[in-house]
Amino acid sequence: MKIKQLILGFCTLPLLISCGIGEGDEFQARHNQGKNCLECHAFTSGGTIFKNLNAANYAETEAADAYNIQLRLESGKIIHYHKGNGYGNRLYNGDEGAINSFTPQIVDAQGNVVNQSRQNSHNVGRLACNRCHTQNGLNGAPGRIVNYDVNHNLATQTNLSTPITKNNISFAQDIHPILKNN
Ligand code: HEC
Ligand code: HEC
Repeated sequence: MKIKQLILGFCTLPLLISCGIGEGDEFQARHNQGKNCLECHAFTSGGTIFKNLNAANYAETEAADAYNIQLRLESGKIIHYHKGNGYGNRLYNGDEGAINSFTPQIVDAQGNVVNQSRQNSHNVGRLACNRCHTQNGLNGAPGRIVNYDVNHNLATQTNLSTPITKNNISFAQDIHPILKNN
């Protein structure tokens, strides 16, 4: 028992230290931000979230690391991405066959949608996100994938994954006008 505790004590300490360093590591911070992940990787989809629409490649200080990508499929199903190597890089590895039209969404740490494309404007041919979301944008993309509602698309999506937080509904303000107008 005593020996076991001793071993555990010795093993967990270096483990914790190395984990701590690994997470915020300079080496890990920069990893091909803004480049097309799928040129080098075989996972299903990947991209970078930036704070700035016109961020340059490799600009890890411009990356929005506290945010995530999710795809809201036409069916309503949500596909969540994972942290990739490097700040702001996100990836998904899964069944591509299940993906058709979708709305890519950017969510904050609480899961609130902060930015998205036009509704269902993306499809399975658009999984290499940074291919179009370049510094100045290709194929009609406005530039980088960003963590703010750059094209004012949030209001156009009728079926957001997270409930729209609204003040309590009041009869006078919300219901009566509807009755009056119909
Ligand atoms: C130019 C080629 C290239 C590009 C582009 C690239 N990577 Fe990598 N990636 C690598 C190499 C090589 C490694 C292994 C060595 C390292 O960690 O740098 C790696 C490692 C990783 C790892 C660690 C696990 C593993 O598979 O080894 C993840 C996760 C990752 N990359 C995600 C991404 C994401 C997400 C993107 C796009 C935003 C991306 N990469 C873009 C070349 C690339
Ligand atoms: C073939 C080009 C192309 C690819 C690949 C692509 N997009 Fe887009 N994206 C666009 C275009 C064009 C727009 C602007 C029109 C619209 O909203 O559909 C856009 C808009 C967006 C927006 C809102 C504006 C912005 O820049 O933040 C987000 C978010 C977005 N895309 C995320 C993604 C994600 C995530 C992926 C990968 C799963 C992706 N896109 C792949 C072309 C592309």
